[in-house]
Amino acid sequence: METERLIKSKKRVRDFAEVYTPSRIVKEMCNLIPAEKWTIESTFLEPACGNGNFLVEIYARKLKLCADERDGLKALASIVGIDIQQDNVDEARERLKAMYLEAYPDCNSFCKWLLDEILKNNIICGDSLAIMDKWATDNNLRDPVIVEGADGQYSFLS
Ligand SMILES: C[S@@+](CC[C@H](N)C(=O)[O-])C[C@H]1O[C@@H](n2cnc3c(N)ncnc32)[C@H](O)[C@@H]1O
Repeated sequence: METERLIKSKKRVRDFAEVYTPSRIVKEMCNLIPAEKWTIESTFLEPACGNGNFLVEIYARKLKLCADERDGLKALASIVGIDIQQDNVDEARERLKAMYLEAYPDCNSFCKWLLDEILKNNIICGDSLAIMDKWATDNNLRDPVIVEGADGQYSFLS
């Protein structure tokens, strides 16, 4: 049986309270969210996302609702994660990116570009308390993301 690595170092546990949640617990916690909350566009914020254990479970559940690569981007655009350590942010982005590319291996270069933009925009490195304070006082929260419709026209994901 493969064991999950729940800490990277004692120093990180001491300095950042970094102990990852086992996937079994992540699933059990996500199961507590009412079924009607699971839509493509429902928003999730993980303010201490670590390397993305909750983010990937949330995205996996949303991907099951997606019909195409555009839906897959919309589902991702409504997931936000913050962690104070850059390596965690990089890992979380990579895990989410791999999920999208596995679901839509034939997506075009525009989708791939958007995928990277959404991940840069939504999975952020910083102190979540300071970031959320700033969001609370900013009118202009985050830059909109552009998507290409089936008709070839570009539009904004809100
Ligand atoms: C207990 S771990 C949980 C990680 C992840 N949510 C999970 O369940 O696997 C806490 C995480 O919070 C991050 N962290 C600690 N202080 C933070 C802060 N002020 N802002 C954002 N992230 C922080 C740490 O780097 C660590 O990855």
